[in-house]
Amino acid sequence: MARQDDDFKRVISHAKEYGYVFQSSEIYDGLSAVYDYAQNGAELKKNIREYWWKAMVQLNENIVGIDAAIFMHPTTWKASGHVDAFNDPLIDNKDSKKRYRADVLVEDHVAKIESKIEKEVAKAAKRFGDTFDESQFLATNQRVVDYQEQATAILKRLGKSLADEDLADVKKLIEELDIACPMSGSKNWTEVKQFNLMFGTKLGATAESAMDLYLRPETAQGIFVNFLNVQKTGRMKIPFGIAQTGKAFRNEIVARQFIFRMREFEQMEMQYFIKPGTQQEWYETWKKTRMKWHLSLGLGKENYRFHDHEKLAHYADAASDIEFRFPFGFKELEGIHSRTDFDLGSHEKYSGKKLQYFDHETRESYVPYVVETSIGLDRMFLAVFSNSLQEEELENGSTRTVLKLPAVLAPTKAAIFPLVKKDGLPEIAQEIIEDLKWDFNVDYDEKDAVGRRYRRQDAAGTPFCITVDHQTLEDKTVTIRHRDSMEQQRVAISEVKAIIHKEVDMKSWLMKMG
Ligand code: GAP
Repeated sequence: MARQDDDFKRVISHAKEYGYVFQSSEIYDGLSAVYDYAQNGAELKKNIREYWWKAMVQLNENIVGIDAAIFMHPTTWKASGHVDAFNDPLIDNKDSKKRYRADVLVEDHVAKIESKIEKEVAKAAKRFGDTFDESQFLATNQRVVDYQEQATAILKRLGKSLADEDLADVKKLIEELDIACPMSGSKNWTEVKQFNLMFGTKLGATAESAMDLYLRPETAQGIFVNFLNVQKTGRMKIPFGIAQTGKAFRNEIVARQFIFRMREFEQMEMQYFIKPGTQQEWYETWKKTRMKWHLSLGLGKENYRFHDHEKLAHYADAASDIEFRFPFGFKELEGIHSRTDFDLGSHEKYSGKKLQYFDHETRESYVPYVVETSIGLDRMFLAVFSNSLQEEELENGSTRTVLKLPAVLAPTKAAIFPLVKKDGLPEIAQEIIEDLKWDFNVDYDEKDAVGRRYRRQDAAGTPFCITVDHQTLEDKTVTIRHRDSMEQQRVAISEVKAIIHKEVDMKSWLMKMG
C-alpha cells in the first residue's frame, strides 16, 4: 500500500515537473478534482484522442463522428434517466461538516482490513524466507482467514443495501463498523441521502426567463438525440455507429486520485445502432475490438482485465469494464454497455418524435438497440503515463528516469542537439529542425552536456535524440539515439525522417489490432 502511494505520488509530481498536468488555478490553491493539461500533456491527450478517432471513425466505413454541444435541452436528462437515477449515496459528518460517499467510507474501512492482511503476509514472508508459500499462508493462517471473511461479508452487505436502495442499512453498517470521520474522528453522522451528480446552470438573461440546464454528465445523449439526423443525412444502414469525443461534467463527491476521477473530464464514446436481438453478438464483438485497441499500444497484456457487471445501470442489459492496473490497483478504464432501446425509446416518448429505422429489406420500422463503448480520455492518459514512467538501473550502476510512452503517442518525437554551441553545429541542427517540423513535433536543446540532455528527454518521453557533431561537418551524418534501448546509430541526415516515421506512424501501430 505504502509503495503504491509512493509510486502514485511520483507519477503526479513527474506530470507536473515535465509539463504534463497542472492543478487548475494553482495560484489560488487549486480547485478540487479539476486539472489543466500543460504543454506536453495537451499533445499527449491530442494524440490519444486521434489514435481512438482513427481506430473508430476513419477505419470503419460504417462509423461517423459528430461534435454535439455540451448544453442540451433539459428534457434530455429526464428522458435519459439522469435526473432521477444518476445518484451517489452521501453522508455528512455533523461535527466536521465534511461530506463523504457512504459507500466509499465502507470501502475504505475494508481497505484497512486488507492492508492488515498485507502486513501479516509481509511479516510471515520475512520470517520464513525462501520457504514462504503465500497462497498456503493466505488459506491457512487463522487471523488472515478471519480478516478476509470480515472484508467479504462487509462488501456483500454493502452491495445488497445499495442494490435494494436501503440507505438506512448503509448508515447502520457505518455505525456497526464504528467508522469515524477521517477529519474529526467524530462518529456523529447524518442519514445517508442520494445526491445527484449533475451540475446545474442557467440559460437566459433574466431571472424570470432563465431556463434550468445541466452540464452534460456523458457525451452519449448528444449522439442519441442526433440519431435520426445522422442516419438520414449520412444514408446510414444498420448496423452503424456514431462516435464523438468531448467534455462531460460530474459533481463527484469523492474526487481524489488525480485525473482518475475528475469533476470536468473528457469522454470518447461510440454508440453502435443495431437490430434488436443481435445485441449479444455485437456486445462480444465490441469487447474484443476495444481490448485489441488497448493491446496495440503495448502497455502489457497483464495490465488489463474484463470485469463483467452484476449490478446493471438503469439502461443496460449487459455491461463490462475494461480494467487497467493503475498505480493504486486495477480500476475501470472503459465501459462496454449493451443499452437496449432504452435511450432512443425514452427520447421518443419524451419528445413525441419517432426515432425509428426503416429496414428496406423487411419493410419494417423499429427502434434500434445500442451497444456503446465509452472510455475516459483522462483515464487513458493516466494509464499510458503511469505505465510508462520507469526508474531503470543501468549497467554502470546509475539509474535513469525514463517515460517510455508508446512512440506513436509521445508529445515530441525527436530532440535535436548540437554537440557544442559553435563551429556551425547549431546552424545544422536548426536546418534539421526546419525539415522535420513539417512532419513531427521536434525540440531543440543546446544547454548542458549531451548526457544530461539525453536524461532530460528520457524523462520527458521523447523517443529520439539526434546529435550533430564535428563529423557531421565532414560527411553529413548524425547520431540518432533510441530512448528505450539507449542505442546510438550513425546515419545520414537524409535518413532521419524515415527512421522516425517508421517508429511513430499511427498506421503501423493500429495495424497491430489485426
Ligand atoms: N455513456 C456511458 C458512461 O458515461 P460511465 O461508466 O459512467 O459510462 C464511462 O463512464 C467512462 O468515463 C469511464 O469508464 C471512465 O473512463 C470515464 N469517467 C467516468 N467518470 C469519470 C470521472 N469522474 N473522471 C474521469 N473519468 C471518468
